[in-house]
Amino acid sequence: MSDIAFLLNGTSVHVTGEPPTRTLLDWLRDSRGLNGTKEGCNEGDCGACTVMVTDAAGSRALNACILFLPQLAGKAVRTVEGLTSPEGTLHPVQQALIDHHGSQCGFCTPGFAVSMACAHLQGRTDHDDVLAGNLCRCTGYAPIIRAAQAAEAAAIPHWMQTDAHIFRPQISSGGGLAEAGGADGPPSPCQPKTTDDLADWYLGNPDATLIAGATDVGLWVTKGLRDLAPIAFLNGIPDLARIEDHGDTLRIGAGVTITDLLAAMQPRHPSLAELLRRYASVQVRNAATIGGNIANGSPIGDGPPALIAMGAVLHLRRGDTRRDLPLEDYFLAYRKQDRQPGEFVEAVTIPARAPALRCYKVSKRFDQDISAVCGCFNITVTEGTVTAARIAFGGMAGTPKRARHVERALIGQPWTVATMTQARTAFAQDYQPLTDMRASAAYRLTVAENLLTRYFHDLTGTPTDVLRVSA
Ligand SMILES: Cc1cc2nc3c(=O)[nH]c(=O)nc-3n(C[C@H](O)[C@H](O)[C@H](O)COP(=O)(O)OP(=O)(O)OC[C@H]3O[C@@H](n4cnc5c(N)ncnc54)[C@H](O)[C@@H]3O)c2cc1C
Ligand code: FES
Ligand code: FES
Repeated sequence: MSDIAFLLNGTSVHVTGEPPTRTLLDWLRDSRGLNGTKEGCNEGDCGACTVMVTDAAGSRALNACILFLPQLAGKAVRTVEGLTSPEGTLHPVQQALIDHHGSQCGFCTPGFAVSMACAHLQGRTDHDDVLAGNLCRCTGYAPIIRAAQAAEAAAIPHWMQTDAHIFRPQISSGGGLAEAGGADGPPSPCQPKTTDDLADWYLGNPDATLIAGATDVGLWVTKGLRDLAPIAFLNGIPDLARIEDHGDTLRIGAGVTITDLLAAMQPRHPSLAELLRRYASVQVRNAATIGGNIANGSPIGDGPPALIAMGAVLHLRRGDTRRDLPLEDYFLAYRKQDRQPGEFVEAVTIPARAPALRCYKVSKRFDQDISAVCGCFNITVTEGTVTAARIAFGGMAGTPKRARHVERALIGQPWTVATMTQARTAFAQDYQPLTDMRASAAYRLTVAENLLTRYFHDLTGTPTDVLRVSA
């Protein structure tokens, strides 16, 4: 791997000779002796490995177990050891965890402390959301939340403010289009700085693995033990991570993280924002990109059903050739997408307004869980009659898929409960879902039907959110 440099707990480090898929977690523990960062699940689920990563966009919590070293080039990393001042003064969140008995066995505690320190730096007080990606088996969450609340008013320690000033050329490394690697070392990954550079390189390396947030690819390495080469990392391409406002439409770059998408959707598409709030955890949302969520073709991804219901257009690029297609046409069959060798997802365009859009995620747990069913509805009613309908589901077929029979059963009909009751029977024509560990086929079909009824009541102003409905 080419030489990469970053700040580690305030000190500049240069890393050479490591494979490009060496995870930060393994490197911290095995090569640096920084064992405070724990390995629990090694797949992004538990938060025991949480570290703080800072770059020009700010500081965020990430899971070190599915973070590859090249993704850190030019950034600043702070582990739990770096939360304490060089003189040994504890960070206010660490002190609060002690004062409020927020730790028993202590295995999860470093991850909690880092997540809490990130939130403290950002002034966030939505502790339930912030800590949804940190699992504790023995303390119970109440003392931990009390600790987070107790630390809210404390000043940000001065040593935590230094990482924001790191963007000096001498530590900004890892750029360019590295190809072959050193004479003896492992192959260097491609780390393009522009989408044009990526397009050129991928055309010549169509068998390469693209890595954006690595929240899927990370598991291919940590769980699948796969060798991936050649590789291109997309997280250093600013022009791929932009959201452009074109008035009636928004063009969302493939490299936009779920965190940034959530913030952009809150004022425009609140129901989608709420769906994204339940997408994995803060740590995963900070890494995962919408491009990766679409490109991987998962039938249970949360992004595609919502985007399809909005009528999203996908922008694909191969070299200098670009093509656009309705997002639903991209998903051909289970894990088979309409993407040519050397072609990548460049962006997706959605309408700026879709007031009737509602997105419903049904999963076993409220937070940090994959959808059993994700249903997204966008129905236009004109003078009491349904004039247009876009309904898309995840978890109901081998791909994210529109409910075209249901849509046809609704269009032209009066906007009434009776129409919903009649149209819901058409779900069985659209979907023949599977039974798996998340849900049975019968459950999925019933949920889909019920979500149509829920949508009707939701749009007519009846509270339907389980968090808000009261007896
Ligand atoms: C703990 C955990 C919880 C999760 N929870 C959810 C959840 O609630 N909802 C959900 O939908 N998903 C969830 N996921 C899955 C994952 O976060 C998403 O699929 C994510 O959006 C993938 O994006 P990424 O940037 O991390 O992709 P990567 O892992 O970097 O890549 C995924 C795939 O897309 C390809 N790729 C990436 N970018 C491009 C591009 N621009 N063009 C072409 N190909 C590209 C890669 O080559 C790879 O095949 C979860 C994952 C984890 C680990
Ligand atoms: S070890 Fe569980 S999220 Fe990283
Ligand atoms: S204190 Fe034991 S797992 Fe949290």
